[in-house]
Amino acid sequence: MAKIRLFLKERSYDIIVREGALADCGKVAARLGLGTDAVVVSNKTVWALHGSRLRRALKRAGFKIHLELVPDSERAKSIASLARLLRNISLFDKRKRPFIVAFGGGVVGDLAGFTAAIYKRGVPYIQVPTTLLAQVDAAIGGKTAVDLPVAKNLAGAFYQPRAVISDTSVLKTLPARHMRNGLAEIIKYGVISDRRLFSYLEKNHAKVLKGDRNALAFAVTRSSAIKAAYVEKDEYDSQGVRAALNYGHTIGHAIEAASGYSSRYYHGEAVAAGMVVAARLAVMLRSMKRSDSTRVERLIRACSLPARIRGLSYARLYRAYVRDKKFIHGKNRFVLPARIGAVRIAEGVSDNVVKEAIASCSAR
Ligand SMILES: NC(=O)c1ccc[n+]([C@@H]2O[C@H](COP(=O)([O-])OP(=O)(O)OC[C@H]3O[C@@H](n4cnc5c(N)ncnc54)[C@H](O)[C@@H]3O)[C@@H](O)[C@H]2O)c1
Ligand SMILES: [Zn+2]
Repeated sequence: MAKIRLFLKERSYDIIVREGALADCGKVAARLGLGTDAVVVSNKTVWALHGSRLRRALKRAGFKIHLELVPDSERAKSIASLARLLRNISLFDKRKRPFIVAFGGGVVGDLAGFTAAIYKRGVPYIQVPTTLLAQVDAAIGGKTAVDLPVAKNLAGAFYQPRAVISDTSVLKTLPARHMRNGLAEIIKYGVISDRRLFSYLEKNHAKVLKGDRNALAFAVTRSSAIKAAYVEKDEYDSQGVRAALNYGHTIGHAIEAASGYSSRYYHGEAVAAGMVVAARLAVMLRSMKRSDSTRVERLIRACSLPARIRGLSYARLYRAYVRDKKFIHGKNRFVLPARIGAVRIAEGVSDNVVKEAIASCSAR
């Protein structure tokens, strides 16, 4: 078992990574004194597969359980489902001390976390992530949000969980494409800050994808520690430190937006292609050696993640990039690798160079 402490003064918390950790949820919540009633937010898929183990753990620790199932898709991250959730919790909560348990992937985690942030101006919550992406990324760091029609994650709050409990055994039921999706973010951690993790993935990516217990334990623990370190240094994403986590995301977001957030590109897949574009950009701007960029591209391909942007016209992608830049970032900002394991932030990169990098990664 690994326990990583994320230090944020009075908002510090543990990230527990263990095969079978679902059984610890009751004990952890009891030790933290979170309340008397566990409001579990999940969806049908996750609850049917793994709910009984979580229920047992919470019951054993003496908690009453109130279950809230939300739709199984990004649609759950809407103002409508937030409103429904708040209403249901308020009806249930009469003279109780509720705390929230976010039990699912990043969608459930973002929605349940935001609900916890605003219900009664904040009730405690724990993250129990069940996808690889949520275990290594979304559940850690306190970014919570729902989507608005104009853009994703536009209404949200920084609100840290009281614990993150990652049970790697639940990943056995996760579809292969979602495993690859999470692996993309793990590759990202290797490129931005850990060349040992990157080399490990070069040798062991197939084991991680197959769900080998040691490989998963290592990859999830190491990634969680890296994410935690960035969050500790820049909790509110205001110091430019946490920005490094956006490696591959500038173009990744544009790919997701240009494909209408359809299932054509999962987030990690879009980020994978975005990482290749940013690595090529780094070579063009003489930030990184070509041989390092080739390693990034080779690993992404080896994991059956997209290294090329397909099925999207270049013009459409570029429009989405410009829109995203204007709307979200104000000016263009790229996280460019300096080598495997280190990055720098570049702002105001010339649009022609960006165009060239995108074009070089677009499949006809
Ligand atoms: N808060 C953050 O810092 C942060 C970071 C990255 C991503 N996100 C958000 O996370 C969301 C994406 O998260 P995701 O990739 O986990 O997607 P998701 O939550 O939609 O889960 C993917 C699918 O897997 C299913 N599933 C979950 N666990 C399972 C299991 N153990 N076995 C079988 N099926 C399972 C889900 O029901 C869903 O159908 C996006 O909304 C994104 O904006 C947030
Ligand atoms: Zn991401």
